[in-house]
Amino acid sequence: MSSKKVLLLLLLFSGVKFIYAMPPLEEGKAIFSSRCAACHNVNKTLTGPALAGVDQRRSIDWIIKFVRSSQTLVKNGDKDAVAIFNQFNNIPMPDHPDLTEENIKSIVEYIRSEAKTVSENKAPFAKPGKLVPPYKPLSLEKDYHFFLIYLALVVLLIMVLLVAVKVRSISSKSIG
Ligand code: HEC
Repeated sequence: MSSKKVLLLLLLFSGVKFIYAMPPLEEGKAIFSSRCAACHNVNKTLTGPALAGVDQRRSIDWIIKFVRSSQTLVKNGDKDAVAIFNQFNNIPMPDHPDLTEENIKSIVEYIRSEAKTVSENKAPFAKPGKLVPPYKPLSLEKDYHFFLIYLALVVLLIMVLLVAVKVRSISSKSIG
C-alpha cells in the first residue's frame, strides 16, 4: 500500500474514533435520563429536588460525594446533606458509586445547559427584539460531526477525481 493510502486510512479511522468519544453535554444528558430522571427534573421538584442551580448552592466536590453516596455524607453529619435529606422526608437517594468524577461533572454541565435554556425562553414575547432566531449558526465546537462528514466527503471527492484521472490516462494510452 502506498504511503498516501495509509495516511488516508489513518485520517478516516481517527475521524471514526472522534465521533465515538461523546462530548460531555451528550454524556451528561444520557446518564441523567437513564439514572436520575426517575426522581429529578432540572426545573421541577419531583421525588428529589429540582437540580437547576445546584452547582451554585453546592461545591462540585460536594455534588460528586453526594451522588456517589449521599447517605455517607448524611451519616457523617454533613450539614447540607442532612438538611436536604430531612426536607425530602428522609427518602434516601440511591448510591451511584460507579459514576466517575468526569461522569458527574458532565451531568452538572447538562443540568446547567437545561436550566439556561428554560430561563432564556421563559417569556420570549416579553422582549420581542431578543427573540431567538429558529436557526443557529454553525460552530466548530458544537457541530463538529457536520464538519467531519463534510471533510470526509471532500476527501472522498478527491479520491474519486484521482481515480477518474487515472482511468482516463490509462484508457487514452490504450486507445492512442
Ligand atoms: C430514587 C430517587 C433518586 C434518584 C434515582 C436520584 N436521586 Fe438525587 N435525590 C433524591 C432525593 C430524595 C434527594 C433529596 C436528598 C435526600 O433525600 O437524600 C436527592 C438529592 C440530590 C442532590 C442534592 C440537591 C441539592 O439541592 O442539594 C443532587 C445533586 C442529586 N440528588 C443528584 C442526583 C443525580 C446526579 C442522580 C443520577 C445519577 C440522582 N440524583 C438520582 C432522589 C433521587
